[in-house]
Amino acid sequence: MQRPEHELIRQSWRVVSRSPLEHGTVLFARLFDLEPDLLPLFQYNCRQFSSVNDCLSSPEFLDHIRKVMVVIDAAVTNVEDLSSLEEYLAGLGKKHRLVGVKLSSFSVGTETVGESLLYMLEKCLGPAFTPATKAAWSQLYGAVVQAMSRGWDGE
Ligand code: HEM
Repeated sequence: MQRPEHELIRQSWRVVSRSPLEHGTVLFARLFDLEPDLLPLFQYNCRQFSSVNDCLSSPEFLDHIRKVMVVIDAAVTNVEDLSSLEEYLAGLGKKHRLVGVKLSSFSVGTETVGESLLYMLEKCLGPAFTPATKAAWSQLYGAVVQAMSRGWDGE
C-alpha cells in the first residue's frame, strides 16, 4: 500500500511540473538570496556572471535548472524506494563537490538548498502546501541529500 505522504508529494509535484522552469527559477533566486557565494560556482566557458539576473537568464543556467527539476522528478517517481537512484545521486554529489559546492549548502540543519526547495513549493502551492505536505517533502529531501552526501565522503 502507498503511504499517504507519498501521495502528497506526487500531487504537489504535479502542480510544480506544469511549469518547471518558472518554479526552478524561484528556487534558485531564493538560493542566491540566502547564499550569494554560490553564484561564482556557475561558470560556463570560463565566464563569471556579473549578477544574479545575468545568471538566471542565461541559457546554460536555465539548462541547469532543467537538470535539477529532472532529478527531483526522478526522486518523486521513485519515492517508494530510492535505492535505484543511490549510485546516481552519490555521483551527482561528487560532481558538485568537484565544482566547489560545500555539503553544508545541502545538508540538513544548515541547508540553503532545502530551504529554497520548500520556499518554492510554498510559493507555487499556496495554502495547499500544508504542514503534512511540507513534512513529506522534508523527508524526501533528507533521503536525497543522504544519498548525495556520499559524494563528499572522505573529503
Ligand atoms: C548549491 C546548489 C547547486 C550548485 C552551486 C550547483 C552547481 C552545479 C554546476 C556548477 C554544475 C556543472 C555545470 C552544469 O551542468 O550546469 C552542476 C551540474 C548539475 N547539477 Fe547542480 N548545483 C546545485 C544544485 C543542484 C541540485 C539541487 C540538483 C538536483 C538535485 C542539481 C543537479 C545537477 C545535475 C543533474 C547536473 C549535471 C551533472 C552532469 O553533468 O552529470 N544541482 N551543478
